[in-house]
Amino acid sequence: MAASTSVPIGVFDSGVGGLTVLRALRAALPAEDFIYLGDTARLPYGTKSAGTVSRYAIQAADALAARGVKCLVVACNTAASVAIPVLAARLAPMPVIGVIEPGAEAAVQVTRHGHVAVIATEGTVRGGAYPLAIAGIAARVTTTQRACPLFVSLAEEGWTDGPIAEAIARRYLEPLFRTPSAPDTLLLGCTHFPALIAPIRRVTGPAVTIVDSAETTARATAARLVQLGLARRAGIGSVKLLATDGPERFARVGSIFSGEPIAPDEVELLDL
Ligand code: DGL
Repeated sequence: MAASTSVPIGVFDSGVGGLTVLRALRAALPAEDFIYLGDTARLPYGTKSAGTVSRYAIQAADALAARGVKCLVVACNTAASVAIPVLAARLAPMPVIGVIEPGAEAAVQVTRHGHVAVIATEGTVRGGAYPLAIAGIAARVTTTQRACPLFVSLAEEGWTDGPIAEAIARRYLEPLFRTPSAPDTLLLGCTHFPALIAPIRRVTGPAVTIVDSAETTARATAARLVQLGLARRAGIGSVKLLATDGPERFARVGSIFSGEPIAPDEVELLDL
């Protein structure tokens, strides 16, 4: 049966970081209802093997599909980097949109000299999905990757700026950007990294273009829904929040990422 326009959009992340993607989706698609699932019981995904992350992603996708969604957005870069093909095959004909392709396309469009840096979790870097996607779009573009795992902890702690965040940003990024062949574009390939934009920007300097896959994914989702005749055109959308553990922590830390306060009783616990 064809999905109706009035059905919600499912958004999945390993935890609260994907609320940056949800925020961008709500701005791009204000009439849509969303169900957001954060797998907080098993966060982080970024340090786990591809097989484990795929298994978790399938469980989360099945749970959202069972609640009835018209489209699945995989907001977690680590999950998207390994599980999009398996999720797309499993949920077909439902559209499954990950953050990798839209982010890669945006980086290719803005790079001036054809050198893009991607910063992400260890898992995303190890899987090489971003360099592959970028090379698939534009073979002339070179990609340099750097895993920045401590950025995830910093963002979760709320230490998004100040001397500690800046020292860690320098340690990770100076070797990339203080060289004559430095990248001209930086792709934030992790849900948590937009929260650290201030210290990151101070290290890169103003000449580097920073690409955030949240906004590009929201644009890609909107375009896909319109193309499939699934976009809802009128009304004011709602958000349902689901987490696999710790509604209190989800609410506290999630508020950093969503840009608005979340109350613990707004978060429903779900066992996958
Ligand atoms: N959501 C993950 C990502 O975008 C970051 C947090 C984690 O490691 O689970 O890669």
